[in-house]
Amino acid sequence: MKTLLLKLSKENEREVLEKTAKIIKSGGTAVFPTETVYGLGVDALNPDAVKKIFEAKGRPADNPVIVHVASKEQLKDITKEILPLHEKLMAKFWPGPLTLIFKKNKKVPDVTSGGLDTVAVRMPAYSFAKDLIKKSGVPIAAPSANISGSPSATAGEHAFADLEGKVDMIIDAGFSDIGLESTVVKVEKDLVLILRPGAVTKEMLEDVAYPSVVLFAENESDLRASPGTKYKHYTPKARLEIFDNKEELEKRKAELEKENKKVGILEKTNPEEASKNLYRHLRELDRGGVDVILAQSYPEEGLGVALMDRLYRAASR
Ligand code: TXA
Ligand code: MG
Repeated sequence: MKTLLLKLSKENEREVLEKTAKIIKSGGTAVFPTETVYGLGVDALNPDAVKKIFEAKGRPADNPVIVHVASKEQLKDITKEILPLHEKLMAKFWPGPLTLIFKKNKKVPDVTSGGLDTVAVRMPAYSFAKDLIKKSGVPIAAPSANISGSPSATAGEHAFADLEGKVDMIIDAGFSDIGLESTVVKVEKDLVLILRPGAVTKEMLEDVAYPSVVLFAENESDLRASPGTKYKHYTPKARLEIFDNKEELEKRKAELEKENKKVGILEKTNPEEASKNLYRHLRELDRGGVDVILAQSYPEEGLGVALMDRLYRAASR
């Protein structure tokens, strides 16, 4: 398949929107930018289209994808029940980087939900993404636009490197603002369970959910609720090692260089910058052919929790 790569600009935005919506409506595959990471989008209600996602990514079939909507009506159309706590969180964090789990209805095909009776839904804030969903007239299923197991794409060129020849179209709109995938939460009557940390932090959720409790899913059965967490993720080719301070990192660097290893460093910045650039830098270091990547840790609070989650995953093999 020939993959069409289009650079988005002010001048061509309408034309690109029309073209992309046409591809989605007719069951094709299109990579599009969001504020978190790039998504590999298809019509979420068309099982044949959703199957193409799994083929293109090499993704295990029991790992469900996130469905993106542009309105409350679209959400109601695919879910069975919206709890008061869902409403509270949506009022504050939608559109934005928060994915909520709902009981699904029959309209959502089994391939989309990975055979679960729930569906994960997000309303993206990035205007092109929102416009695309509106124009397509269908909810869009979109996992991150990378090959399964490699870092998520935070630029059109990353998606192109991974998916050229496997998708109909890739839209390049430069680097994603946030750079990490959305926060995924399961909502129960009085409880918000964080299945995947992201830019909507535990502290932010607590402010809104109070008096309901917000917890990180930690035990096996909670995490089994989110099949994606059991798979290896976000892994660069080089080995990644994490250090608590600069001195330890420098010591290790000297050691490795003595062994003639090629060493790459993830420079320590603030958590926002570090999140925005993490996947890009992992990809760049891999392309540079380094043997080992060294990184410093961040305090595990606020956005630091999501950042450290991705760093640990990238370091585990
Ligand atoms: O920021 C994002 O969320 C990006 C952009 C494109 O929106 N999308 C994304 O999708 O990261 P993906 O497929 O790479 O990650 C989806 C995560 C997986 O860990 C999956 O297991 C979980 O959400 N998930 C999806 N549906 C679920 C469900 N019904 N119950 C529990 N977890 C679910
Ligand atoms: Mg992913």
